Amino acid sequence: MKSPVRVAVTGAAGQIGYSLVFRIASGEMLGKDQPVILQMLELPMEKAQAALKGVMMELEDCAFPLLVGMVGTDDAEVAFKDADVALLVGARPRGPGMERKDLLLENAKIFTAQGAALNKVASRDVKVLVVGNPANTNAYIAMKSAPDLNPKNFTAMLRLDHNRALSQLAIKAGVAVADIEKLVVWGNHSPTMYPDYRFATVGGSSLKDKIGDESWNRETFIPKVGKRGAAIIEARGLSSAASAANAAIDHLRDWVLGTDGKWATMGIPSDGSYGIPKDVMYGFPVVCKDGKYEIVSGLVIDDYSREMMNKTLAELEEERAGVASLLG
Ligand code: NAI
Repeated sequence: MKSPVRVAVTGAAGQIGYSLVFRIASGEMLGKDQPVILQMLELPMEKAQAALKGVMMELEDCAFPLLVGMVGTDDAEVAFKDADVALLVGARPRGPGMERKDLLLENAKIFTAQGAALNKVASRDVKVLVVGNPANTNAYIAMKSAPDLNPKNFTAMLRLDHNRALSQLAIKAGVAVADIEKLVVWGNHSPTMYPDYRFATVGGSSLKDKIGDESWNRETFIPKVGKRGAAIIEARGLSSAASAANAAIDHLRDWVLGTDGKWATMGIPSDGSYGIPKDVMYGFPVVCKDGKYEIVSGLVIDDYSREMMNKTLAELEEERAGVASLLG
């Protein structure tokens, strides 16, 4: 039997957490032969800790053969101790009357502390995925707060946007999701993101040509993917949870187990590719192999795409400037 992997999950008793931890424990994220130890963090408040206790009781009641240990705590240094994987889901939600800037700052405090805790106690190879919003900027803050860890260990979740885009393309073109390759979503996990179907293929030929409707791309597809989160809230009265947990599973599974040469979208610190300034946590097309990701290079960026990529970059730069004072 393989030795167990330690998986930390913050906000484990929240909506996404409740959809996520059972799938991790069942082996859907790291493989059906990979034992895991779940290390779950929740806020110290009585209600949150009680909810976490309930989640742990249910995990027990599933009797997952791959779940070989569990920790529930309100202490980040306990949750992140020797963690090989960390899913940072818990975040401060926007309260009534709260300005975007205040939301950024409140979350900056959380992710500065969690980045420092990871820096202190996590495995030196820890793979970190930030889900809690604003995901890209929170991931950037955690990365900057962990100077002893490789910045490439920090990523932000764009996979839900990628999956949303895949399904909309499949519906429009009348093809199977599984047959679509080479899709990318550039930039920030926010309505400014740019789902880019120009390189996408189905059965090896151009999906854009098959659809043959550029006005649909610009006027329907891109805004629909961008506003999908709001549409879910409108319909469900709650934000996306099962689909967000599913995307987190996809992101980590691809990163750890590889993509077999296929493209995925990950929010990662830029290495300067495609004119995106170094360190900006930006959605890029990547290929994963042997536990590492690499940006797909050599793609041609046309004028429209450059404009879209710059718009989402400008938003990220603005968010980064908003928290700069906290990062020293
Ligand atoms: P939720 O409010 O149901 O759950 C969040 C949980 O985190 C709560 O149980 C809360 O007690 C806990 N928490 C808050 N601050 C914490 C901290 N500092 N340490 C540990 N635990 C903490 O929210 P939900 O629906 O699970 O969403 C979580 C986050 O994910 C939100 O920020 C949401 O905006 C974001 N999200 C991101 C998506 C993406 O694609 N990147 C998609 C959907 C949601």
